Amino acid sequence: MRRPILRYGAPVLQQKAAPVDALTADVDALIEDMRETMHAAAGVGLAAPQVGESLRVCLVDLSAGRRPEQLLVLINPEVLSAEGLQLKEEGCLSVPGIEATVPRPLKLSIRAMDRDGELRDIHADGLLARALQHEIDHLNGILFLDRLRPEYRWAITRRIARLRRAGKW
Ligand code: CO
Repeated sequence: MRRPILRYGAPVLQQKAAPVDALTADVDALIEDMRETMHAAAGVGLAAPQVGESLRVCLVDLSAGRRPEQLLVLINPEVLSAEGLQLKEEGCLSVPGIEATVPRPLKLSIRAMDRDGELRDIHADGLLARALQHEIDHLNGILFLDRLRPEYRWAITRRIARLRRAGKW
């Protein structure tokens, strides 16, 4: 079942999400809902807080649904190491229509449980490293806007405030 994607301003997006204790049927149903929701939005990543669940679950699929084997389901992900720096334009399904150049690590190693409950290490670079860091940030209540220099962030949040006043956010 597709779920509405919450936008910047929703309090749950700024909260640290709770770890998943057990892979229950509810968690599996949430993952399936997130997959459908992310693919329907043609997104490459989605975190549970974006659909209103403050749980440490996120999905990354750089193929945006074209290659099922590329779907990564990350439960309780932890960053093992991060190195280097990349600067690329980035967006977020919770901040629609807005992109900004965000500093991210060039290489990222993480450990996460997959949908079958197996602990897996992922060593990523480039776009995958960026996407993983973006989604893990969501689980810590951090949006890409929070990674911008204050003047850029301020310009964007002012734009969003204007859209909100006009009833377009
Ligand atoms: Co996002």
